[in-house]
Amino acid sequence: MTAVLLLNGPNLGILGQREPEVYGTDTLADIAAAVAEEVAVRGWEVVSIQREGEGELVSAIHAHRDSTVGAIVNPGALMIAGWSLRDALASYAPPWVEVHLSNVWARERFRHESVIAPLASGVVVGLGAFGYRLAARALLHLAE
Ligand code: DQA
Repeated sequence: MTAVLLLNGPNLGILGQREPEVYGTDTLADIAAAVAEEVAVRGWEVVSIQREGEGELVSAIHAHRDSTVGAIVNPGALMIAGWSLRDALASYAPPWVEVHLSNVWARERFRHESVIAPLASGVVVGLGAFGYRLAARALLHLAE
């Protein structure tokens, strides 16, 4: 099985109910299904993992570092100071794309910097759930 890792950080498991005016009404299950639809064109599957804790996200990256061809990562607020998440991603060799549903640049200043962004192949910001589809398409391109 060829798989893509879809990794979502804290507070993203309640998408759909969480501040829908900011994050939209799609649930994480909707997003995982959309990503699965995109990568199915190449026969790939999706391993979708959401965790509240940084250590659990680090463990998920370690567990899937050799078995996935790429990753889509929404770190949530760990974008601000998730240094161990950043280091785990530094050890993840395949291409990966950072996604934020909201336009973090249009929001509070503390959301204007991401500690993981410098390591990402690319970053998709502000396009809502559609951003995950774009990230999936980017992985299809990058992993060619
Ligand atoms: C987010 C943006 C972050 O600043 C915030 O902490 C989130 C969601 C987004 O997808 O827009 O939890 O990553």
